[in-house]
Amino acid sequence: MGDWYRDFANSGVGSTLVEQLGLPRPAVLRRHEPGAPLLTGPAVVGTAGEGRLHETVIRVLEDAGVPVQPPAATDGERLGAVLLDATGVTSPADLAAVHEFLAPALRRLGPSGRVLVLAGPPSDAGSPAQAAARQALEGLVRSVAKELRNGATANLLVVPAGAEAAVPGPVRFFLSGRSAYVDGQVVPLTATDVPAGEDAERPLAGKVAVVTGAARGIGASIARVMARDGASVVGVDVPAAGQSLAEVANEIGGTAFQLDITAPDAAQRLIAHLRERHGGVDIVVHNAGITRDKLLVNMDAARWNPVMAVNLQAQLDTTQALLDADGLLRTGARVVCVSSQSGIAGNRGQTNYAASKAGVIGMVRAWAPAFAERGATINAVAPGFIVTEMTATMPFGTREVGSRINSLQQGGLPVDVAETIAWLSQPSAAGVNGQVVRVCGQSFLGA
Ligand SMILES: NC(=O)c1ccc[n+]([C@@H]2O[C@H](COP(=O)([O-])OP(=O)(O)OC[C@H]3O[C@@H](n4cnc5c(N)ncnc54)[C@H](O)[C@@H]3O)[C@@H](O)[C@H]2O)c1
Repeated sequence: MGDWYRDFANSGVGSTLVEQLGLPRPAVLRRHEPGAPLLTGPAVVGTAGEGRLHETVIRVLEDAGVPVQPPAATDGERLGAVLLDATGVTSPADLAAVHEFLAPALRRLGPSGRVLVLAGPPSDAGSPAQAAARQALEGLVRSVAKELRNGATANLLVVPAGAEAAVPGPVRFFLSGRSAYVDGQVVPLTATDVPAGEDAERPLAGKVAVVTGAARGIGASIARVMARDGASVVGVDVPAAGQSLAEVANEIGGTAFQLDITAPDAAQRLIAHLRERHGGVDIVVHNAGITRDKLLVNMDAARWNPVMAVNLQAQLDTTQALLDADGLLRTGARVVCVSSQSGIAGNRGQTNYAASKAGVIGMVRAWAPAFAERGATINAVAPGFIVTEMTATMPFGTREVGSRINSLQQGGLPVDVAETIAWLSQPSAAGVNGQVVRVCGQSFLGA
């Protein structure tokens, strides 16, 4: 299931032809490999106004062995990343410094480079002028993401006062190859305690992770990435998928638990299994999902009900049961729910699916405060066009259009969704709670 057009556009003959015809040239994205450096080139770090995160950002880069160059360096070396601490902007006039720093730096950004801006929340601003300047950064970053080429991405972290400790984990994610298909996103952080001493290569070491729908597709990829990052994975899927589930579990040294998550006793059976085998659980990924597409006027209950049951009600019931099960959900627990771009943009023929996926977003937002009280988090990931067996069966034209209408001009891979979910499951992602992170290459749908 490769991307024939991307491969052609990056071949000798293809790249010349594509350039002559003025066609898009989707890049081969830099994806995380164990042991890979955080960046492939040096970084520059700028500030606009009196920023408060400059030192924090420099420390993350130095700890990862990334050389930091002064913004005015002119040796011509391609940059791995351009970071801007814009927490000091107080009015639109300060944005001139943002432009002044970014314009020359972006000219030097290398392939799959990263632009990361850190700003204060507009809602906490001291004046309308400051709120305007902070909000302006959102428009700027989303536009920069659309201007970048060669697999480079731009994202914005919104950091309220007091949330400084929550910054390093998200900065590492957005600079790394783990965020290859996350582009044009705005991620607000909250102030919280962040455990120290995470192993960069095995950040989930010692954690027990449940992944539903793990027999194939995105779920199998999540299970693999979680295991690679050190977690003991309990893969869950329907009995009919038992064979493939067992294969995935064996491959990653995890265990398989056959369960229809919509069964009336599903949550209690899962809880009993986790208590008996593992004594508790640290990470729960609600990934299992189904589609039963039809225009609303032609949709019967046989299409509406199962989609709601699998995609939304099971996530609600299981999460509530886990919260109620005394001591089962361990301190620092992470729940990650798979939503969809359809739940944000809507999609013709998918009223049931889009409703269920939008419901997931409402659910994580509503539950975030209760999770924060336990030192835990709950977030959603909304994939865009992901190249899977499902999308491979789409008509050629629909598939081509669907996969190209984003800033990276290509579909994402299951591993891109898996990497984002694994990141949200890390201890150092403690400051991300109640958020929706899109893994869509900055899709133009629902933006
Ligand atoms: N593929 C995409 O482009 C895309 C885009 C956006 C969102 N998503 C979401 O990502 C998730 C995974 O999608 P996928 O493409 O890998 O789908 P998939 O159909 O390949 O895999 C889904 C898995 O869930 C399992 N499952 C279904 N009902 C279940 C139940 N009642 N109990 C237990 N397991 C059950 C299936 O057996 C299957 O193994 C879904 O929630 C989907 O809605 C996918």
